Amino acid sequence: MLEVESGVSRDYCAFMTSGFDCTPRNRSKAIGQFLTPKQVYDAMIGDIMQNFDLRQDSVINVIDPFCGDGRLIAAFLTVLATANNHPKEVVVTAWDIDEAIINAATETICEAATDAPFEVVVNTQVMDAFDCDQALYGSFDICVTNPPWSSTKSLKANAFATKDEYEAYQTLTNAYGRLLTERYPEVKGGKSFGAGALNLSRFGLALALRLVKESGICGIVMPSSLAADTSSAVLRRSMLDHFSLRSLHYYPAELKLFAGADQAAIYLVLDANRNDKPGRVVSHLKSKTVDYALDDHFWNYSLTNGWIIPVGYKEEEIRLIEKLSLMPTLGSCGDITLGREVDETRISERLCDRSPYRFVKGFMVTCYRLSDNEKWYYDDSKSPIPPSAMSEKVVWRDVSRVSQKKRVKATLLSSGHVAGNSLGVATCTDPKKLRALLGVLNSSVFEFMARTVLTTNHVSSGMLKRVPYPNLSDDLLEKMSVVVDEILADPSDSSMLALIDDLVAEAYDLSPDELGVAQEAVNPDGQLVMEL
Ligand SMILES: C[S@@+](CC[C@H](N)C(=O)[O-])C[C@H]1O[C@@H](n2cnc3c(N)ncnc32)[C@H](O)[C@@H]1O
Repeated sequence: MLEVESGVSRDYCAFMTSGFDCTPRNRSKAIGQFLTPKQVYDAMIGDIMQNFDLRQDSVINVIDPFCGDGRLIAAFLTVLATANNHPKEVVVTAWDIDEAIINAATETICEAATDAPFEVVVNTQVMDAFDCDQALYGSFDICVTNPPWSSTKSLKANAFATKDEYEAYQTLTNAYGRLLTERYPEVKGGKSFGAGALNLSRFGLALALRLVKESGICGIVMPSSLAADTSSAVLRRSMLDHFSLRSLHYYPAELKLFAGADQAAIYLVLDANRNDKPGRVVSHLKSKTVDYALDDHFWNYSLTNGWIIPVGYKEEEIRLIEKLSLMPTLGSCGDITLGREVDETRISERLCDRSPYRFVKGFMVTCYRLSDNEKWYYDDSKSPIPPSAMSEKVVWRDVSRVSQKKRVKATLLSSGHVAGNSLGVATCTDPKKLRALLGVLNSSVFEFMARTVLTTNHVSSGMLKRVPYPNLSDDLLEKMSVVVDEILADPSDSSMLALIDDLVAEAYDLSPDELGVAQEAVNPDGQLVMEL
């Protein structure tokens, strides 16, 4: 059925619109057809208009390369019709891979153009936008879009009638993936980039940016992961090298704005004209709206932190993040070693009824506590005991969902405990430093900063190494280790828990107000949970 060698893109288009069991669910999954809600596109077009230099009697070239039913272009024309200055003509280009929806787009756009006080030329076309004529790059004044929220491998075997068809899909999407990675190298993700599924929204952003003129503006809706995940770092950098970010608006999944996609979204308005006016990041949380300015301090911070643009924060919080990020990190703390002990695969074969070595898994650990509800023992006759099990160590839960109210949960284990790899392990030969580390890991300030880097459901050593960690004076080490021992003896002692938070804040050189900002931000009642 498929001719992969000749015309990968043509075959991809044909297949994506008819080659599988085409239930509405499979269809949205395959081509990422989640249409933008009005609340989001109204705000985005408002921001575009604020930044667009609208000249009387000009000709405006506008494009939506992934137009769906044409709602973004239609809204743009409607707003433009009410502006004080009118262009002479607007030339609209709108593409979509889906023939059924492009007809709706033509209708919606033409209707919006009916009473416009300027000429409107409408070009709609069924096509694969990623395979567009490269001569069109740099030719649009405005690109307004929402690219497909899908990946090259979104469909599972059950979407196909036969195994052969599923295999054909895989062959085709692999070839298509190669075409995309060759054509859009700026999307380059992490180490295994290109080997697995490719996130099409990122390629959509790359294309949208290529399409706008040197003086153009791009307004684009994206999954919120673009703002901070490590695999988008290269793309973010390329985007910010060429465009100034006028605004980024964040809509958490809990707002349930996108029908059928329980996903957090952002939109960005990017201006190819550099100007000094700082842009803003606005987060529309369920109970309130918070925002902060993208000033020079912010960009210094972002530059040294993978070009991340944290969402969900207000001005005081972002200033605190900027201040703390100037400190050394846990990874640069030479006398603390972070790692793991033993793999938990087929662990039952290495357990026994009784031995001198207690085996501990992630679920048994919470802040300053080891649960005694279940006691497992490691069989040292079957497997060697790791050297770190012979000394005290700090352990923290590795699996901690992004939706969890507290991400970092750590405790101290005495010698004779073996930790499975659902726990991270920190060792240090100085017992006071080890206790101080535990106090810091469980503190509000560390939790606040850790959340800026913990974008997956794992609390890996690699991520924790990136979190700022204070230099501790002998006096503070002494005080912190005494308080931590008291908490270990009674983890419910709230006065000691408050005291360690104060001592950690002192170590990070924070004022009481700054500590208050961190504590309020991580307060489990009413806290924002990052969704990526
Ligand atoms: C997230 S929807 C957005 C639609 C519309 N712009 C909006 O904001 O409501 C993405 C659209 O891209 C289309 N699409 C998917 N892959 C495409 C491709 N390779 N080329 C062009 N359009 C594509 C889908 O059919 C879908 O209509």
